[in-house]
Amino acid sequence: MQTNSVAAAYDKWAPVYDLVFGGVFKNGRQQAIDAAEKIGGRILEVGVGTGISLPEYANDTRLVGIDISDAMLDKARERVRKLGLSHVEAIEVMDAEHLVFADESFDVVVAQYVVTAVPNPEAALDEFARVVRPGGEIIITTRIGAEGGLRGQIEKTLMPVTSKLGWRTEFPYGRYEAWAAKQPNVTLLEHRSLPPLGHFSLIRYGKRHAA
Ligand SMILES: C[S@@+](CC[C@H](N)C(=O)[O-])C[C@H]1O[C@@H](n2cnc3c(N)ncnc32)[C@H](O)[C@@H]1O
Repeated sequence: MQTNSVAAAYDKWAPVYDLVFGGVFKNGRQQAIDAAEKIGGRILEVGVGTGISLPEYANDTRLVGIDISDAMLDKARERVRKLGLSHVEAIEVMDAEHLVFADESFDVVVAQYVVTAVPNPEAALDEFARVVRPGGEIIITTRIGAEGGLRGQIEKTLMPVTSKLGWRTEFPYGRYEAWAAKQPNVTLLEHRSLPPLGHFSLIRYGKRHAA
């Protein structure tokens, strides 16, 4: 997968994205937002897409949304304007693997259904850990692929098709575990299963002060 082809795929999804993926991820999004609001403050939504989750955040949060697809962000900008979402600080085109923000400049980083779409997910996770402050959280909703077996084989076979559509089917939880094991200041706080079918998860990491 390459960033420009992922952006092109989501540019094509933009007109119908909310219709196709609005309902199916609604419950997971709300669980992520509820978790983020427990910390509150300045929140970065990575892969904010059409901004479908923005109206659901409390008015006393400050939201920054970034995404690689300008067409998806056009929808987000329109939503912010139409609904008068004054708690949205900025909406910007940006690659999750190369965030322009200063270290420790957010209280929470939320990434909903985006990590498996990024060409180098570990580079994006590194960036999330860099820009979140100690005591803050990284909150991810994500598809979790099988570790092997028949479902693993099917997911591997589907990869050439789904990567053209903008996401990976093959993405075992072990990949998150391997990333977290290398982080000196990041701790897994929670891993809970999400609908539909339990093929998705909500993962919360906490950032500690450097030792
Ligand atoms: C499945 S959509 C999820 C959108 C939204 N978060 C939601 O809950 O519906 C994945 C989003 O991630 C964005 N994305 C993919 N790769 C990205 C990257 N490298 N940097 C930033 N955003 C990216 C896509 O453009 C798309 O809007």
